[in-house]
Amino acid sequence: KRHLISATDLTRDDAVLILDTAEELARVADRPIKKLPTLRGRTVVNLFFEDSTRTRISFEAAAKRLSADVINFSAKGSSVSKGESLKDTALTLEAMGADAVVIRHHDSGAPHRLATSAWIGGSVINAGDGTHEHPTQALLDAFTLRRRLSGGGPEGARGADLAGRRVTIVGDILHSRVARSNIHLLTTLGAEVTVVAPPTLLPVGIDHWPCAVSYDLDAVLPKSDAVMMLRVQRERMNAAYFPTEREYARRWGLHGDRMARMPGHAVVMHPGPMNRGMEITAEVADSPRCTAVEQVSGGVSVRMAVLYLLLGGSGPAVTTRTTEEA
Ligand code: CP
Repeated sequence: KRHLISATDLTRDDAVLILDTAEELARVADRPIKKLPTLRGRTVVNLFFEDSTRTRISFEAAAKRLSADVINFSAKGSSVSKGESLKDTALTLEAMGADAVVIRHHDSGAPHRLATSAWIGGSVINAGDGTHEHPTQALLDAFTLRRRLSGGGPEGARGADLAGRRVTIVGDILHSRVARSNIHLLTTLGAEVTVVAPPTLLPVGIDHWPCAVSYDLDAVLPKSDAVMMLRVQRERMNAAYFPTEREYARRWGLHGDRMARMPGHAVVMHPGPMNRGMEITAEVADSPRCTAVEQVSGGVSVRMAVLYLLLGGSGPAVTTRTTEEA
């Protein structure tokens, strides 16, 4: 495969290969020199038309740990503000020799447009497009979940899928590319997914998605191995339809008493950014059951694996030599 546009592009075996490769590459973080020579001479462009903290920084860290050259492009401060199109921006980057373009865009479908155009010769990786998909987020969520549910470390995680695990996704499903990618990837990996949301924050056609729907969070929590809390995306919403923080937190938020309804082994996940006090209380966000910070560090390993596999890194993912020795 040359591009990663959607979680639906991945078979179970593809996903397990990426997760296992990420486990190998995670070992690099334990070394004194956190770098491999694998993608030396290759160029990765981070093309961000929308704000990001975690995704942009972790793709940059991932590419640098594999010794690739990295060009960071942010639409803010670029010629996009003068009206330059996606096509002309892409042609400019191609002229600079991009081997991979990591794109985040406010329009659903922009990464697909780039991947199917003749504008770019290299691999295209979707880093979040509109309300459509965020496949590397789903992969890093699966990476974190697989580790936590198999005892916390890489040992039991390798080769495993998530068969029979029950994952509940709570909140603004309507605007969430994270929810879409997770529903597809988690079911591909064998998990059962339930979404819980106010009816106004569910997409039309949810009945045809591979997930169950519930409006009763308290009833679903005791049957969950993981509960993924989502931010309400005010920026994609008409203010007239926006619920008050208090009203939303009372009905759909995760607080300490609610978390106590979850089984002892179950974890709380959040892709970030969080709205503390709305979908999640500080008590829950800062508890050892919340994996938000682990998700971020797993994200670097997963994005290293995606770059390594798409750019055809030569040899085993992890060699015993450091950059200096190579
Ligand atoms: N989870 C996520 O995509 O975060 P950022 O918007 O900060 O990249």
